[in-house]
Amino acid sequence: MNTKPLPFKKIIFVCTNCRDSGERVCCSERGSIELHADLKQWVKDQNLRHHIRVCKSGCMDRCEEGPNMLVMPDNVWISDLDADAVAAFKAELLAEFGDDA
Ligand code: FES
Repeated sequence: MNTKPLPFKKIIFVCTNCRDSGERVCCSERGSIELHADLKQWVKDQNLRHHIRVCKSGCMDRCEEGPNMLVMPDNVWISDLDADAVAAFKAELLAEFGDDA
């Protein structure tokens, strides 16, 4: 095992799990794939990729509250993610990293 410090200042996990209809609800049917893609592209456009990594995650078992997003190492959990929440989150990221872009 080779333990290292985190290579990014933030690693953002957006659940993009997809289930067949008729099964338990999933984040992807509530738009998480598009939200993930939007946030990932925004990080790239803002030239923040050296600070922030946006990843897809599998199910984090809070499906009924989704779409869900986990922000590490902040230990921040965001549920009911939508375009407005992503916009607010982007503003927070700009306030934190905007000068480092
Ligand atoms: S499908 Fe996203 S938390 Fe379960």
